[in-house]
Amino acid sequence: KWTMEQFIEYSIEEIRMQVGDKKALCALSGGVDSSVAAVLVHKAIGDNLVCVFVDHGLLRKNEREQVEKVFKDHFKMNLIVVDAKERFLNKLKGVTDPEQKRKIIGEEFIRVFEEEQKKLTNIHFLVQGTIYPDVIESGIDGKVAVKSHHNVGGLPEDIDFELIEPLRQLFKDEVREVGRLLGISEDIVNRQPFPGPGLGVRVLGEITEEKLEIVREADYIFRDEIKKAGLQDKIWQYFAALPDVKSVGVTDGKRTYNYTIALRAVNSIDGMTAEWAKIPLEVLEKISNRIVNEVEHVNRVVYDITNKPPATIEWE
Ligand code: XMP
Repeated sequence: KWTMEQFIEYSIEEIRMQVGDKKALCALSGGVDSSVAAVLVHKAIGDNLVCVFVDHGLLRKNEREQVEKVFKDHFKMNLIVVDAKERFLNKLKGVTDPEQKRKIIGEEFIRVFEEEQKKLTNIHFLVQGTIYPDVIESGIDGKVAVKSHHNVGGLPEDIDFELIEPLRQLFKDEVREVGRLLGISEDIVNRQPFPGPGLGVRVLGEITEEKLEIVREADYIFRDEIKKAGLQDKIWQYFAALPDVKSVGVTDGKRTYNYTIALRAVNSIDGMTAEWAKIPLEVLEKISNRIVNEVEHVNRVVYDITNKPPATIEWE
């Protein structure tokens, strides 16, 4: 059996042979798989790799800055950051159906990516962070799709590129190990799963800038307190969602009519089934207090205590 060091050495060699002095393009999402794939290919071909990161305005707090810091400043990679917030928000205006939201986000992502690709010349290869479980999963026919799982890695089908998929034979924990060996920081290597449509499926119903801001701030506080409580490696996935619900509350003796934040935290092996996380009540209380105190337009916080099935992990 190979060591991961040998795997890296061999892959770099192989990518170099495959690409020669041509160029490769990578859609970087900041997730574990695309990050590790990009850094590996960068080690092999340097500036002949161009990475594109699409900011669709549905990202978590500081996410874009973190990607820029890691890949541009630290790894000195050739990274194009596309600010497409307006475009996405305009397309999503008035849309409330979850599947339609996903579809719009997925299609718009491909459109933005294609536009960037057309500005570049000499690109022959496309880097994808496909890992072994993806290979198996896509091979199973008749699988029931509960949701259209569009991945920000999943790209146009008619694109005329050769694929580079250096992680095709690896399991997730091996991908993480390779990432660490390549010098990628723990917060990326250990990043919890984040859906391609981002906060778009965590703002339930119509997406507005105000709602995005609310869920982003609440989510940030949730993550911050989980970290402070030392629980970040003990919970598989945790996040805030914003139900499309207002309720009555009271602040300083005055009636309020404001949003509810739903906290969701689960433990799971592969996302197919999940158990709600038994976060200590004192921690939940602290999170709740901070959210209602610090996030405007929120007067209530609820904790989701449903397993999957029958609930899904995300609310949309
Ligand atoms: P559900 O909500 O289906 O989520 O129980 C299972 C896992 O998949 C993530 N998820 C997605 N990931 N694109 C993705 O790349 C998507 O559209 C998407 N929807 C859900 C979810 O965060 C959880 O980890």
